[in-house]
Amino acid sequence: MLKRLFSEQDIANTVKDLAGRIENDFPDEEILFVCLLKGSFIFTSDLVRQVGNRSRIDFMRVSSYGNQMATRGNVEIVKDLEEDIEGRNVIIVEDIIDSGLTLTRVRDLLLTRNPKALRICALIDKRCRREVEIEGDYVGFTIDDGFVVGYGIDYAEYHRNLPDICVVVKEDEV
Ligand code: IMP
Ligand code: MG
Repeated sequence: MLKRLFSEQDIANTVKDLAGRIENDFPDEEILFVCLLKGSFIFTSDLVRQVGNRSRIDFMRVSSYGNQMATRGNVEIVKDLEEDIEGRNVIIVEDIIDSGLTLTRVRDLLLTRNPKALRICALIDKRCRREVEIEGDYVGFTIDDGFVVGYGIDYAEYHRNLPDICVVVKEDEV
């Protein structure tokens, strides 16, 4: 069963706030947004429309082996960037930071390519689940443990199209 955690309006407000913080940190500078597929496709498309900077957008897909509810740490680059990020202001856009393994792998890889700046923008941070030390520079919502779906985020590829962000609850926990 799905229980609404953040409404469309909550999300829109938060995305606007994140965009404002990004604009403040990069006045008059060009930004390259790196959308981590698939989970951040809706978040990225809303975020980039709120950021007034001259921007470029590229996509990367990483897969982490594990079960459907958790990462096991083996993060593989399935689709790499097409852009050369050397000397650019790069912002990685991620749906959720959970164990932190995915973003650590992506960040370390992108750092080897010598960007001018490299920041992390995450819609949701599950801080208490962290297995490696990594922080988002721009974080929308911080939540406790719990599996969420909607607004691009899936469970077994379903529910990405929900406009709200919902938490999956077992029937006996209702
Ligand atoms: P990490 O490598 O453990 O930080 O996992 C990050 C990735 O796991 C995210 O990009 C999501 O794709 C996925 N993930 C983590 N928590 C959830 C969740 O609650 N719902 C859906 N996907 C999740
Ligand atoms: Mg993901």
